Amino acid sequence: MTERRELRIWRGEGGEGAFASYLVEAEDGEVVLDLVHRLQATQAPDLAVRWNCKAGKCGSCSAEVNGRPRLLCMTRLSALPPDQPVVLTPLRAFPSVRDLVTDVGFNYAKAREVPAFVPPPGLAPGEYRMQQEDVARSQEFRKCIECFLCQDTCHAVRDHEENLAAFAGPRFLMRVAELDLHPLDAAAETGLDRARSAQEVHGLGYCNITKCCTEVCPEHIRITDNALIPLKERAADRKYDPLVWLGAKIGLRSGKTTP
Ligand code: SF4
Ligand code: SF4
Ligand code: FES
Repeated sequence: MTERRELRIWRGEGGEGAFASYLVEAEDGEVVLDLVHRLQATQAPDLAVRWNCKAGKCGSCSAEVNGRPRLLCMTRLSALPPDQPVVLTPLRAFPSVRDLVTDVGFNYAKAREVPAFVPPPGLAPGEYRMQQEDVARSQEFRKCIECFLCQDTCHAVRDHEENLAAFAGPRFLMRVAELDLHPLDAAAETGLDRARSAQEVHGLGYCNITKCCTEVCPEHIRITDNALIPLKERAADRKYDPLVWLGAKIGLRSGKTTP
């Protein structure tokens, strides 16, 4: 069945702009990105929107639909109120470039601030072995498609621009948690306590576990429950007993590595 839906899209550049309304044909089963493409093809060829895979895997079509951070390619029209316009705005937490496109460079800068995996001494690539339970634990975090919807929705970034310098945001705190749990990561032997650095360098203390990041994650990663809360607990434990942490880390690695 074909119907006409109203799209209300924020249009402008560099933060200056206004909403424009369009009536666009829609077919059963379509997603918001289908309508945006039809709009570009028929009425607004200069509309700026970022997308790539149209399969929920590249993370580039992030925007806000009716005020909620979402992937345009994974948001079915049937999930939105049929009698109301579909309101599309760019990610609010990041600087506007044009129309629905934002500058997400903040996230790449934060990614670079997280120290990389430290290879275990004495093992060459190809000789690494991990227990399946350790693989499974980090597998959830590695489903991340870097859409940055969690970063956009976190109030510590969204409502407090002044926090940007000191807060990495949920996606990158999750990365710290992943590396902290990695049984082969040798950061501890270089003197880096990843959980404490989450607190002291990456702003974990700004997170008050509201779980908004978890609610918008299109990969259904339990960011708060499985990454941030345990990371807070480990940071607190190690602050008061760093020797126990170092011993446990070294013991964990040798104990969980199989030949
Ligand atoms: S749980 Fe923490 S990181 Fe996630 S949205 Fe809330 S404050 Fe931000
Ligand atoms: S954790 Fe989820 S919401 Fe955040 S960037 Fe990754 S996939 Fe997107
Ligand atoms: S276009 Fe790739 S996630 Fe939407």
